[in-house]
Amino acid sequence: MCGIIGILSKGDVAPRLLLGLRRLEYRGYDSAGIATLVNGRIERRRAEGKLVNLQNELKDNPLIGEVGIGHTRWATHGAPNERNAHPHATHKVAVVHNGIIENFQQLRDELNSSGYIFESDTDTEAISALITRELENGASINVAVKTSLDRLEGAFALAVIFAGEHNLIVGARRGSPLALGYGDGEMYLGSDAHALAPLTKRICYLEEGDWTIVTSERADIYDKNGTPVQRDEMETALSGATIGKGNFEHFMQKEIFEQPAVVGDTLQSYLNAHTLEITLPSLPFDLSEVSRVNLVACGTACYAGWVAKYWLERIARIPAEIDVASEFRYRDAPLPKGGIALFVSQSGETADTLAALRHCRENDQHIVSVVNVGESSIARESDVVLPTLAGPEIGVASTKAFTTQLTSLACFVIAVGKANGTLEHVKAASLAKSLTEVPSRMAEVLNHDQDIRELAINISKSRDVLYLGRGTAYPIALEGALKLKEISYIHAEGYAAGEMKHGPIALIDDGVPVIALAPPGELFEKTLSNVQEVIARGGKVVFISDHEGVKRLEKKSWASITMPKIDDFVAPLLYSIPIQLLAYHTAVIRGTDVDQPRNLAKSVTVE
Ligand code: AGP
Repeated sequence: MCGIIGILSKGDVAPRLLLGLRRLEYRGYDSAGIATLVNGRIERRRAEGKLVNLQNELKDNPLIGEVGIGHTRWATHGAPNERNAHPHATHKVAVVHNGIIENFQQLRDELNSSGYIFESDTDTEAISALITRELENGASINVAVKTSLDRLEGAFALAVIFAGEHNLIVGARRGSPLALGYGDGEMYLGSDAHALAPLTKRICYLEEGDWTIVTSERADIYDKNGTPVQRDEMETALSGATIGKGNFEHFMQKEIFEQPAVVGDTLQSYLNAHTLEITLPSLPFDLSEVSRVNLVACGTACYAGWVAKYWLERIARIPAEIDVASEFRYRDAPLPKGGIALFVSQSGETADTLAALRHCRENDQHIVSVVNVGESSIARESDVVLPTLAGPEIGVASTKAFTTQLTSLACFVIAVGKANGTLEHVKAASLAKSLTEVPSRMAEVLNHDQDIRELAINISKSRDVLYLGRGTAYPIALEGALKLKEISYIHAEGYAAGEMKHGPIALIDDGVPVIALAPPGELFEKTLSNVQEVIARGGKVVFISDHEGVKRLEKKSWASITMPKIDDFVAPLLYSIPIQLLAYHTAVIRGTDVDQPRNLAKSVTVE
């Protein structure tokens, strides 16, 4: 997944291309580059690594030009170096691309045999070469672009500039998002409205297969058949303000500490704190007739869906399945007509999740999504959106988005249980009441921050770490392992605590810390037994439970974190905090790039 931007302006565009790329860096930061027209010629500046390297390059070698494109890369084909950095260009065109061209090798072979010499290992360079060849064969720009697009298989969002054409940018999208921005005598293209927000509020989202010929006065949009189409212009609600870290060292740390507030904000958008009644956005189907739910998501969002599966089945008595999106579409699950497909996504742009959504749409499912970006592709393609009000989440490792996803899902579950009669009013009110206690309990847990930092000093020396939990604490164990590995680079695994005796307990020795999540409830005793099996074999256990629970283990655990007493229903929200803090401090101690860990990106817009 990468971020692309294009600007057609009355003044030099390089500074604003950089500004847009800074707001797109969450989509990848392996390399970055821009291209502009200087006296009709294509000029490029590119740099390996973070955007700041391109910024320094431009300080040393400034670039003028009133039409330009920019790119920040998450490498798919070709190592993350300057040679493979976008824009890719010939003497006639320059291209930036987000997506994967699946038939790129066939196109490269064809172009090679017609004499083209590739300078990079990327799939994208095949696009610039294809368009160039069409132009050299005498095709007009429109025909050259359309002919080339028709040769591509796979996903792309493109911005293209042409030598000698100072009043032209071409955009195209298939499988990856692309927004058009309208300025005052200026026009813009960007991977999302967030990138364009400092430039304009007037946005038009291109649809699947659309391509557009943009000049400073207008944008002509065509569908995949080349038929002229109109697309609605809208006013984006996104702010152009840049988000800062405040007094925090990292965005992730800030976002961990924002959770009491944003969980409260999200809860208030569904729950009347006086009547304890939950109100969902209006649904195009009868909630009382929901017979099953397929939950589909990726990564951390998938673990939120996993908790919701337990809740839907136990509280609302609804069969629920959870799938990682990249597997779901290919297992061809039977999808009875009228079922609910529920997608969870912070960015709303995750290609695997979006592809699964479209698969469910084709199978007549009701599409419900829990998203944090209201103008995202997933939100726009859903029948109903259950918003999370986490605010922009900049840290690649998802934290506040996760707990606000759990908040929205908890409200959905209570509403389903009430609608189908499995949850009588008193119990529903009691569950809702327990949700209202979460923000203040979270604030209490955040007070453990320094204790957890001390603990992280030891964890940071580990080679492997295990996370254990039962019931809804099991997906939280999975999430804890993901947090640790994705930002500290320590290998970690989450396991159902009861599963340890079926093999993983062979891993236990004093070099493998075990983080055990043991909230109160009917599974506490069994979790305690599993933990004692680990301790009996010399395992070093970090025991996370409430006061009574910690006392039960006495001094046998290597360390413990005492949590506030809370209803088992909302334990997943609360027990997320210590595992987030543990991962954060461990990563800081290990000196990794906490907010932009290696090889990752915030939004994975390729399948
Ligand atoms: C979370 O810490 C990870 N960065 C990643 O697993 C993320 O949750 C996943 O890529 C899904 O992203 P989404 O919520 O934007 O769809």
